[in-house]
Amino acid sequence: MNRREVLRGAAAAAAAWLPAPAARAAAAPGFPAGFVWGASTSAYQIEGAVAEDGRGPSIWDIFSHMPGRIADGSNGDIACDHYHRFAEDVELLAGGGFNAYRFSVSWTRVLPAGAGALNPRGLDFYDRLVDRLLARRVTPWLCLYHWDLPQALQDRGGWINRDTAARFADYARAVVRRLGDRVRHWAMLNEAAVHAIFGHAYGNHAPGLTGWPNYVAAFHHQNLAQGLGLQAVRAERAGLSAGTVMSLQPVLPATPGDVDRHAAERFDAVWNRAALDPLFKGRYPALIEPSVAPLLRADDLAQIRQPVDFLGVNYYGRAHVIDNPASPLSGAAFGPLPAGTPVTAMGWPIEPEGLIEVLEDLRDHYGNPPTFVTENGACFDDQPGPGGQVRDDARLAFLHRHFDAAAEAIRRGCPLGGFFVWSLLDNFEWAEGLRRRFGIVRVDFATGARRPKESYRGVSRFIAGI
Ligand code: FCB
Repeated sequence: MNRREVLRGAAAAAAAWLPAPAARAAAAPGFPAGFVWGASTSAYQIEGAVAEDGRGPSIWDIFSHMPGRIADGSNGDIACDHYHRFAEDVELLAGGGFNAYRFSVSWTRVLPAGAGALNPRGLDFYDRLVDRLLARRVTPWLCLYHWDLPQALQDRGGWINRDTAARFADYARAVVRRLGDRVRHWAMLNEAAVHAIFGHAYGNHAPGLTGWPNYVAAFHHQNLAQGLGLQAVRAERAGLSAGTVMSLQPVLPATPGDVDRHAAERFDAVWNRAALDPLFKGRYPALIEPSVAPLLRADDLAQIRQPVDFLGVNYYGRAHVIDNPASPLSGAAFGPLPAGTPVTAMGWPIEPEGLIEVLEDLRDHYGNPPTFVTENGACFDDQPGPGGQVRDDARLAFLHRHFDAAAEAIRRGCPLGGFFVWSLLDNFEWAEGLRRRFGIVRVDFATGARRPKESYRGVSRFIAGI
């Protein structure tokens, strides 16, 4: 099958159940007209083509090839082969009625060594992707960094090295210079906390560092990168919408009593407040302040405290926390869920009300910034039927419940402007590998073939208001 046939096939598959255009113009119930409905992905998780067109190695290329690091022994070498099949994926977005797509740019496609020589062929790919999206009336939301640091920068200390923040700003400038005429929405970092925690404190994500000091340094230098990046993007081009993306979780003690309650407060500082407070209040939580002090230069907090046009919120569930002295996160760790809590295949709690709590926290304590849910979705062990179709009712129910929570937050005065489903495609789920499926479109990793699941159709109907 050549590329055109593949595209026609995808368009036909989508068209077969597409609502009529008039129906598609209707708004989903509970959401204002103009609400952004999107799907999210990230570069390393879907692109593949890791050695193509001059791309350099990132920390995830190195890490995923280390023995024993990825649960199923897979890696992102091919993943969804999105690099070659992007046009088909854009058809899936457009065909599903999504009006936005959040993707990330691979830093090492643009700057193979992280800094210095630019690789125009890497930028050409995003150029093609953006043009294709615009042609299909899907608005690109570009995220500059989704955990795939150039290995060349890691070799110089990565996020432990303050210089990486300045290199990020250079990289941001280079991407805006090329795409800023067509991409309006720019997110700086994806989930700095999660990257600092799993990549630099627990070590189960790239680059595999461990311990509290590494967590603090990785967090502070990402915060700085975010601030410098916001300034660089705005200096490069006026009129863009620039923000960043955080994973936010309400934190609760797993058991009654002071010990876990204190642990929950520490975990909240480490997971949520270390990201929110510097950006919106220009300070670190008291727990972190003493550790970060030796790294702070005079105007760091002013550099970090930049206005954002939007805050992207990735929401999956609440954190139920216990005191555990072995945890590098100030002795606080994920603990057992309340009895009877339903979970996804990741073991993550299904708690849609937590999304309302997160958005209300932003409303009440952070000046009520414009927000977008930039990720929400669920992993389930999909069982394809005899014809290959996936009836993923649990995923669709999960999403419906979170759409309802989002609508409720809007009713309560939270300026939520959009909702992006994680994820458009089954993809490489980091340390869990390819075995964990979050997509609303199934990907056969042996052939690259895509097939919309029932959840894709359900979400599409919801967006269309039918
Ligand atoms: C988020 C990540 C995303 C994906 C989902 C399941 O924390 O940003 O890449 O792994 O979790």
